Amino acid sequence: MSEVRLQKFLSAAGVCSRRAAEDMMRQGRVLVDGVPALDVGRKIDPDKARVEVDGRTVAGIQDLRYFMFHKPAGFLTSFHDPQGRPTVRPFLEGLTVRVFPVGRLDMDVSGLLILTNDGELGKRLMHPSSLIPKVYRVLVQGVPDEGDLERMRRGRLIIDHRPAAPAKAQILASGPDRGWLELTLTEGRHRQVKRMCSAIGHKVVRLKRVAYCGIALPGDLPWGQIRQLTRAQVDRLRNAVGLGPAGAQTP
Ligand code: URA
Repeated sequence: MSEVRLQKFLSAAGVCSRRAAEDMMRQGRVLVDGVPALDVGRKIDPDKARVEVDGRTVAGIQDLRYFMFHKPAGFLTSFHDPQGRPTVRPFLEGLTVRVFPVGRLDMDVSGLLILTNDGELGKRLMHPSSLIPKVYRVLVQGVPDEGDLERMRRGRLIIDHRPAAPAKAQILASGPDRGWLELTLTEGRHRQVKRMCSAIGHKVVRLKRVAYCGIALPGDLPWGQIRQLTRAQVDRLRNAVGLGPAGAQTP
């Protein structure tokens, strides 16, 4: 591989933004082959240089991995639970790389979770300012009326003493005492869908996330299964938060 600026390598490798990398370099926190790289003009050959940040070796750009996971209901989105409840850990044991989930789904919620070891991407996606659209299918007790949905659409529901951001909301199907909704949220507050539905007087019976940032949970990905994201899907995620394609040699 040809030489790239060190801050660009660190950003593409998912460590941090280029600006943050420059600060860390000036602070002497970045070592190249054991020597502090203080010069922000420093270039490296990513195939040859051993780069460390704060004493930890940085995985190369080629080691960044991205997956989708169909989380089943009944499992915590964490790797360990002090109370001994089931976690998603056993489902990820086949992976040869350490990844973390981007955001969380409640224990009783199923659906699409993104898994990655791209730290900068994960951090940006989870930041409230990212406004990443997340689509949920929701089964509720009773059938919300148009007025309720309109309150969701206009951001008129108060949660935690402040309005929830406007959401897309539509009824997909309804029976005598239950309704299926599709909600698209750009926020990710704690138990947000459940609390929004509760605010209009409808208890959530079942909840599933069916898309994240325009990436749909494929119908043929069974519960508990993991699939690698395509290059286009990775680029979509990175573009959504102002990062170029992973490993791209952009100026
Ligand atoms: N909204 C919820 O209430 N729970 C989730 O897990 C995700 C969104």
